[in-house]
Amino acid sequence: MALNSATAIAHPNIAFIKYWGNSDDGLRLPVNSSISMNLDGLSAKTSVEWDDDLTADEFTLNNEIQSGDSLHRVSRHLDVLRGRLGRQSKAKVASENNFPTGAGIASSAAAFAALTAAGVAAAGKILSERELSTIARLGSGSAARSIPAGFVEWYAADSHEDSYAQSLFPPDHWNLVDVVAVINKGHKAVGSSAGHPSAQSSPLQNARVAGAEERVTRVRGAIQERNFNELATFVELDSNLMHAVMMTSQPPLFYWEPASLKIMSLIREWRAEGLNVCYTLDAGANVHCICVRSDAPIVSSRLNSLSEVLTTLSANVGGGAHVLP
Ligand code: DP6
Repeated sequence: MALNSATAIAHPNIAFIKYWGNSDDGLRLPVNSSISMNLDGLSAKTSVEWDDDLTADEFTLNNEIQSGDSLHRVSRHLDVLRGRLGRQSKAKVASENNFPTGAGIASSAAAFAALTAAGVAAAGKILSERELSTIARLGSGSAARSIPAGFVEWYAADSHEDSYAQSLFPPDHWNLVDVVAVINKGHKAVGSSAGHPSAQSSPLQNARVAGAEERVTRVRGAIQERNFNELATFVELDSNLMHAVMMTSQPPLFYWEPASLKIMSLIREWRAEGLNVCYTLDAGANVHCICVRSDAPIVSSRLNSLSEVLTTLSANVGGGAHVLP
């Protein structure tokens, strides 16, 4: 590997308590704290090379040269890194995802966590996990949560320095699996970044935010005690609340598809039958089915037998962002 370059891997994460809406859109300071689990196996692998001879940043994603918004967003994050690292040089960034991009499997979280970790390492700097998380947050809010390992909480705060994510429990604390029912591989119509500013236009957003700290406390406690039923109650409630806000915003955002609703209803039935499984959806139609590891095979085989399900992806609890040696 050339001097001034480094490669990092980061996993996407699935939020149990959602981030939806900012108190400061520019700084991505969220209106409520959130909790997530990193997704092992799914990953973004990103190489950054700072190069004094380049006249502009370059970005390839899955071997395709990027331009327009995609390049611009990466370049803006490189500006943040240049500011913090005291560098002027442009960078060559190459990233690969091993999961579908833009389909409700937080690709931007893994991408900006890996970009941050690689960019800092490529400059030969070592920053604290807390600072890496705050920097990643500026690229994509949920990326703050892909820096630390395992089960993670991201704190809402009034200042850039204080809004960071921290590991609550390591990956081996609880054998949960996210079985993602992929029903749509396409790019979502409205991305999260465009969605956050509209959250406040929903008459339901204040009510969602008012109860968020209580739900964070309940979910943190449920993970600590490995209490699946408590987890299921608050994870489904929080997902439903976020989608209620989305659907009642101006303009309204509908991410659920008929197949999403069908699967949500089946998940509730399967839980009533005794399976430890619950659902949550991000800004996309795919349904994340959170279950205990012993129930994951039956949950995925039942999901795969549905004609609406294109495929399933299964992920254990993942580690944090890390730089490759
Ligand atoms: C619905 O982190 O993707 O997945 O900060 O604009 O990049 P930006 O938004 P992003 O929003 C994630 C929203 C969500 C819920 C969550 O992951 O908490």
